[in-house]
Amino acid sequence: FHPPVRSICCIGAGYVGGPTCTLLAARCPHIQVTIVDVNPSRIAAWNSPPDPLTGELTGLPVFEPGLGEVVKACRGRNLWFSTEIDEAIRAADLIFVSVNTPTKKSGIGAGYAADLHYVESSTRRIASVATSSKIIVEKSTVPCRTASSMRTILEANSRPGIHFDILSNPEFLAEGTAMRDLQNPDRVLIGCLDTPSGREAADRLGEVYENWVAPERIYTTGLWSSELSKLAANALLAQRISSINSLAAICESTGANIGEVAHACGLDKRIGPNFLRATCGFGGSCFSKDLLNLVYLSESLGLHPVAEYWRGVLAMNDWSKARFAQKVVSTMFNTITSKRVAVLGFAFKKDTGDTRESPAITLCRTFLEDNALLSIYDPKVPHEQIWRDLVNDPSRPSPSPYPGSGGVLLDSSLDASIASLKSSSRVTLASSALEACRDAEAVVITTPWDQFRTLDWQAVFSQMQKPAFVFDGHSGFLDVARLEKIGFKVQAVGRGP
Ligand code: NAD
Ligand code: UGA
Repeated sequence: FHPPVRSICCIGAGYVGGPTCTLLAARCPHIQVTIVDVNPSRIAAWNSPPDPLTGELTGLPVFEPGLGEVVKACRGRNLWFSTEIDEAIRAADLIFVSVNTPTKKSGIGAGYAADLHYVESSTRRIASVATSSKIIVEKSTVPCRTASSMRTILEANSRPGIHFDILSNPEFLAEGTAMRDLQNPDRVLIGCLDTPSGREAADRLGEVYENWVAPERIYTTGLWSSELSKLAANALLAQRISSINSLAAICESTGANIGEVAHACGLDKRIGPNFLRATCGFGGSCFSKDLLNLVYLSESLGLHPVAEYWRGVLAMNDWSKARFAQKVVSTMFNTITSKRVAVLGFAFKKDTGDTRESPAITLCRTFLEDNALLSIYDPKVPHEQIWRDLVNDPSRPSPSPYPGSGGVLLDSSLDASIASLKSSSRVTLASSALEACRDAEAVVITTPWDQFRTLDWQAVFSQMQKPAFVFDGHSGFLDVARLEKIGFKVQAVGRGP
């Protein structure tokens, strides 16, 4: 049914499509890889030239350590970024569908269900332009049985004699470590229909991965198990964080230390040490979205206790963010009105410029509602993005034709809100951490960038108002004893009195 893969198209040049297919192009020089997108400015950024002074690719739309070097090595050799979607579809033996699947903002399932509009329009486009048989791979995170809808659309709209096989191949990379995760994945999951052509399609995709992944790490399952495993993996990871955050609250009230508790629990091989850091809540584009999706799926199946169970993970996360903000206010004598608060970090985690669902957004908005004056610094998030996030209401339907770009509203009311916030002088965007802390009464660590740990904290202390407060939103990140010796009053998540 399917010859060995020589040409790949990836629809969607975002945080997943871009890095994933760049790494694939690097490891498979014999395969032509074309990454396409409907957003011309995103494609232009992927094609941006190196900085004339440093030679580095600083204009890429996604910041990931190590990504620029790999793009530079492959771009123009066997890696292409293009808006010529139809041409790339026609030329491909295998197509990754790597478009965004955000939570629906209106209509049936609003606030819970995944918006599959982008997956469907990509599928329809493939059906209408393809002139030869192809393997279609769901790379996006989708609800269970989406492949079945894709197959119906493809079969109903394709030209006679053309055969499509659909695979599920969810992506497990984490932002900030994407290149490392892609190079050395814990597993590659491939779901296929149990038919001769389905199994052959899975073999073809497996052969592509075998160019750099050991065969024993490639796990083939049924389509629906593969789709559900992606939602399940994110739900289990998020649940682990909410569990440790719930215990952090107990620590803060009892004098136990969450770092010690997590370490003690993690020594048990059945629990393991990773992903047990208590924080001011998890962020990122997927944990909340995929949990909501799982809740919706469970409700649709009439499994209400299951839905309630996973809803609890989200509720604990919301509470963790609110609790941390409350701790800041109560520690500062129950008022932060007109007090300068330095917020260090705005991305949802270190080593990325992505702010989607970043806890920093919620915290900053809460501080602003309490009339604080904010100085914000992040090493990678562009200032315009910070302004947008501070005023954008993520639950509003987006009028943008490209809502993939962080769910950002590109409308005049947004511009007006930004202009009003800028002119109010309630928020300053600093160009260094030290600058952000000048004259502040409190420093709040929202993202654990390495440079905040090694900051000249003595210098920070000498330029702050006294008493100088530090609030660490990531347990065990800062050396609390050292800071207290300098004179800071420190509160860290999960650290008791
Ligand atoms: P993204 O918003 O960064 O990128 C998606 C891109 O698809 C956008 O650039 C958008 O313009 C483009 N697009 C939308 N419709 C299109 C169409 N019809 N034709 C061509 N291009 C189109 O999203 P992302 O973070 O890369 O996530 C993509 C999927 O991968 C989601 O389902 C997400 O849940 C999943 N995922 C994301 C991550 C992550 O770390 N971000 C990790 C694993 C899985
Ligand atoms: C997560 C998963 O780790 C990936 O496997 C998955 O592919 C991806 O979601 C996805 O589907 O999008 P990502 O969100 O990029 O990756 O980053 P994580 O490292 O998982 O961090 C997410 C959030 O959890 C961050 O806000 C981080 O601070 C928080 N976190 C993480 C904790 O609060 N505690 C921890 O111990 C670990």
